[in-house]
Amino acid sequence: MLFDHAETSLQPLVGKFALLQRDLDDARRELASQRISQEKSQRSGQRQSRYTFASFVGASPAAVEVKRQARRAAQTASPVLLLGETGTGKELLAHAIHASSARADGPFISLNIAAVPDTLLEAEFFGVAPGAYTGADRKGREGKFRLAHGGTLFLDEIGDMPLGLQSKLLRALQEGEIEPLGSNKLMPFDARVIAATSRDLNKLVREGNFREDLFYRLNVLPIRVPPLRERREDIPALVEVLGEDMALRSGAQPPELSADALSLLSAQVWRGNIRELRNVLEQATMRSDSHRILASQLQAVLRESGVAQVEPVPALATPGEAASAVTATVRPLAEQVAELERQAIEAAMTAARGNKAAAAKMLGISRATLYGRLDDVA
Ligand SMILES: Nc1ncnc2c1ncn2[C@@H]1O[C@H](COP(=O)(O)OP(=O)(O)OP(=O)(O)O)[C@@H](O)[C@H]1O
Ligand SMILES: [Mg+2]
Repeated sequence: MLFDHAETSLQPLVGKFALLQRDLDDARRELASQRISQEKSQRSGQRQSRYTFASFVGASPAAVEVKRQARRAAQTASPVLLLGETGTGKELLAHAIHASSARADGPFISLNIAAVPDTLLEAEFFGVAPGAYTGADRKGREGKFRLAHGGTLFLDEIGDMPLGLQSKLLRALQEGEIEPLGSNKLMPFDARVIAATSRDLNKLVREGNFREDLFYRLNVLPIRVPPLRERREDIPALVEVLGEDMALRSGAQPPELSADALSLLSAQVWRGNIRELRNVLEQATMRSDSHRILASQLQAVLRESGVAQVEPVPALATPGEAASAVTATVRPLAEQVAELERQAIEAAMTAARGNKAAAAKMLGISRATLYGRLDDVA
């Protein structure tokens, strides 16, 4: 018989099971409460500003420059316009700008214009006067402009704003006053606006889908947030920070990437930018039996995700060569030509030990052309 005295021999196991069960229950409760408070704050659009400029990881020239511009913008009271592809960190920067502005102690209120049905947007923006409607809104409701009083109003996906409302937004920004729905009283507001979009606003203006006057009103301090492929040298640091953050959340060890796994990541196009990088890391971690992640595992994730179009990295290529081999197939030609040109100039400058005349000769271009290109790079 396997368990002669079942009660006594199973006792330690049963005890352990009970403890585990308790731990599991605790963890579930903790998760649930986190989710509830998160949902609550998301519903009101009010979030604690957790991010500072230090949260924007990156030491590449492009990252340093965007942080410099954002810091400068934080010191002013003007509207800020964050332009950049999806997942580049626009929202993170908006939080950081707020957190280091004079309004840091005020609220940070965000409104994702793309996520709210057009018919409800006006009420979200400007609020509803008491008695304007029967039913749930009978008591009236504050709009985001008023909720942001003394703080920052983050208008995300501004490019998705319906035309009709654009003129009302413009008027509010110009006058510093809003008119809640169903009221005929103007109310002042005091909020700094930060707008963001991944869409081409200039094109929207040209096509007549975005008001030019509103564009100029918002475009006082435009900040272009660079895509990840323009700052590939930040990828290792990002992998480290994202990995640690993932580990903190899951309680597991942070992932450790082999050198070729890292260079594979550095070679991707990253259309979804940092968000996509994080997803790929998460998936690779989930699939891996240990915290070590190999290039082959990443390759599988990248292939299946279907977002990034990967080609096998040539075995003997240096990371730089691998990078251009992989990305060469999928990027716009102009971008590739510019990159090749940069690489050629760098190589010639190194070979000529910084002697520009010699480098120009090697490249078969005039010195003036080389100086022009070097200025472009700097
Ligand atoms: N430089 C960075 N360092 C660390 N994490 C970053 C950085 N940039 C972005 N992230 C992280 O990547 C994710 C996407 O960033 P964010 O939401 O700010 O992008 P976004 O530009 O607003 O994208 P979308 O246009 O899709 O809304 C977030 O989890 C954010 O914390
Ligand atoms: Mg965003």
